[in-house]
Amino acid sequence: MLVLGIETSCDETAAAVVCDSAHPAERIRASVVLSQIAEHTPFEGVVPEVAARAHLANIDAIVKKALDDARIGFGDLDAVAVTGGPGLIGGVIVGVMTAKAIAAVRDIPFIAVNHLEGHALTERLNGDLDFPFLLLLVSGGHCQLLIVEGVGRYTRLGTTLDDAMGEAFDKTAKLLGLGFPGGPAVERASLGGDATRFQLPRPMKGRPDCLFSFSGLKTAVRRHVETLGGLPLKPEDARDLAASFQACVADVAHDRTRRAVQMFRAKYDVPLHLVVAGGVAANSALRARLADLATAETLTLHTPPLSLCTDNAAMIAWAGLERFRLGETDNLDFKPRPRWPLDPKAPPVIGAGIKA
Ligand code: KG4
Ligand code: ZN
Repeated sequence: MLVLGIETSCDETAAAVVCDSAHPAERIRASVVLSQIAEHTPFEGVVPEVAARAHLANIDAIVKKALDDARIGFGDLDAVAVTGGPGLIGGVIVGVMTAKAIAAVRDIPFIAVNHLEGHALTERLNGDLDFPFLLLLVSGGHCQLLIVEGVGRYTRLGTTLDDAMGEAFDKTAKLLGLGFPGGPAVERASLGGDATRFQLPRPMKGRPDCLFSFSGLKTAVRRHVETLGGLPLKPEDARDLAASFQACVADVAHDRTRRAVQMFRAKYDVPLHLVVAGGVAANSALRARLADLATAETLTLHTPPLSLCTDNAAMIAWAGLERFRLGETDNLDFKPRPRWPLDPKAPPVIGAGIKA
């Protein structure tokens, strides 16, 4: 079974071909990701209209390259899957219309995938992980702890009250004058830094729920920058503040995830597998703290390879393939969704509905 996947929900134009081989290493037949970093760098952030236009300009060539890399043609495809949301709606529309056109012309099934489900099922593409498992999903738009019970079946344990974790990295990078994209810039800047030099608050740490909040932390970083005399910072100040921020975020993630582990264990008496997914999962300080948690809590930590952590179309094709195997496809009147919660039962959290 060969499925084409298309991803255009943020600032990567991506297409991939995956198959249902029993061997995980053989599943990704092609995966092409075109980043729009150059287009957005002048604005120090992703501009939705610029993103949508760039997706439109590149999507045809990216799809063709994915098929060429996989050495197949449209006629070999069994289905086409695309990110149907949540995301920047102009970009989502470009991907959805492209996928619909391919499905209509080739008369193959069309599958609209929740972008978050793509991240959630990545580790099943990468290996053979059974349900249920615990997921920490941390990206530019999302920061959630979820129990993944099956394809399309999620229980959200917690989300963020304000900024997503990646957003906190991006805003901190801006405050420190490190540029765009922020997460990798903060990580690079923090190398060799003294993570104990600056006192920063640990928002939500110790609370009995699984909620996150990063706006207070951002304010604290800004105050330190002001106290240091504003931008540009001395390299050693930027380094120590980046390291302190990163350690703080990793510490909060450790605390919140430990709470989620308790909640998971209250519900399921099975060996616990924790998956960390989304762009921020690339961060090595975060990975190290979660590895500490895994040892202390006797659980198995899964960190997908970096190329599958940040946005890509292989995860979308795979989530589509999983849904296709269950007989779940969508009609061509599917409407792109700017918002699409994984767990519609989860109560709204002030401020967080926008991200969820
Ligand atoms: O999953 P993703 O590629 O796109 C979204 O769906 O949002 O995540 C992008 C986010 C950005 O906020 C970026 O700054 C962050 O992931 N990120 C990182 C690192 N690499 C990417 N954050 C911290 N450390 C990194 N190494
Ligand atoms: Zn993403």
